[in-house]
Amino acid sequence: MTETLLPTAEGITRAAELLRDGALVALPTETVYGLGADARNGAAVAGIYAAKGRPSFNPLIVHLPDVETAKRYVEWSDEADRLAQAFWPGAMTLVLPLKPDNGLSSLVTAGLPSLALRVPAHPVMQQVLQTLQGPVAAPSANPSGKISPTTAAHVLAGLSGKIAAVLDDGPCSVGLESTIIGLTAARPALLRAGGLPSEAIEAALGQPLDSVAGDEIIAPGQLTTHYAPRAAVRLNAQSAAPGEVLLGFGTMACDLNLSPSGDLTEAAANLFDHLHQLDATGRPIAVAPIPDHGLGRAINDRLARAAAPR
Ligand code: TXA
Ligand code: MG
Repeated sequence: MTETLLPTAEGITRAAELLRDGALVALPTETVYGLGADARNGAAVAGIYAAKGRPSFNPLIVHLPDVETAKRYVEWSDEADRLAQAFWPGAMTLVLPLKPDNGLSSLVTAGLPSLALRVPAHPVMQQVLQTLQGPVAAPSANPSGKISPTTAAHVLAGLSGKIAAVLDDGPCSVGLESTIIGLTAARPALLRAGGLPSEAIEAALGQPLDSVAGDEIIAPGQLTTHYAPRAAVRLNAQSAAPGEVLLGFGTMACDLNLSPSGDLTEAAANLFDHLHQLDATGRPIAVAPIPDHGLGRAINDRLARAAAPR
């Protein structure tokens, strides 16, 4: 049985206790719900891979309450500092060289010499981290290869019975996973477009980000079919073909609209929920064109993966 916890002092304490005992708890963050485990506990981290059915080479993001704590685990740098000052807490993950004797389970990094870190802004997640006083490894709380969850109901639809609890604090405000920046090479690189537009990151760094070559799997979440609904997905559709359901954007006739006013922030927040709903119809999904700037880049990245042949 998976418990549903409320975002009260009691629910937060219970979530931290479960994590301390090595159990898996799905936690709200501003991006998507994460499937949390104590990152120091190898058995608990192994449980994440098992619950998600995740390939074991795929490393996890470690969540921390603040920048000072993050510095314990990685070799810090001036670039890391500039980005952390500008965007933490928030929807950005930094990949940095792992420090030796970091106390983390090696399953967290899947053996890589680097670590992905994030300081989330979500107030309930923050309280869980502060109560636990420890690092929480958390991938998105969905079965591997499926759509990321932006509500507790999405989490339960995929993982009910496989995890101890879900801490329900309603829908995620951003609705897209964090933007991942690699700081292990000579120049900073965009490893995954996400909830923080890369333009903002380039502005803070004062230089363009390297982009990762398409066939090079540096962030394994880049696997082409990562965000797959069950049904076929067709992109850049102006209208629905017979039998299809249409996911719209801007003023248009459609089954569900990401943002009738054409607002990319609203579209990002609705993306996974709308895909979950349309996928439940069992019909093929057509998707209207989305502008490819700002958050639109991350939205188009997720849609391209959802539409990839499999
Ligand atoms: O918003 C988010 O990032 C959510 C919330 C829960 O924080 N988490 C999330 O985790 O999306 P996940 O596991 O679904 O995606 C993490 C991505 C994966 O593509 C993984 O391969 C990559 O981060 N990653 C983790 N550690 C890495 C590392 N050391 N180097 C490169 N990529 C890494
Ligand atoms: Mg994921």
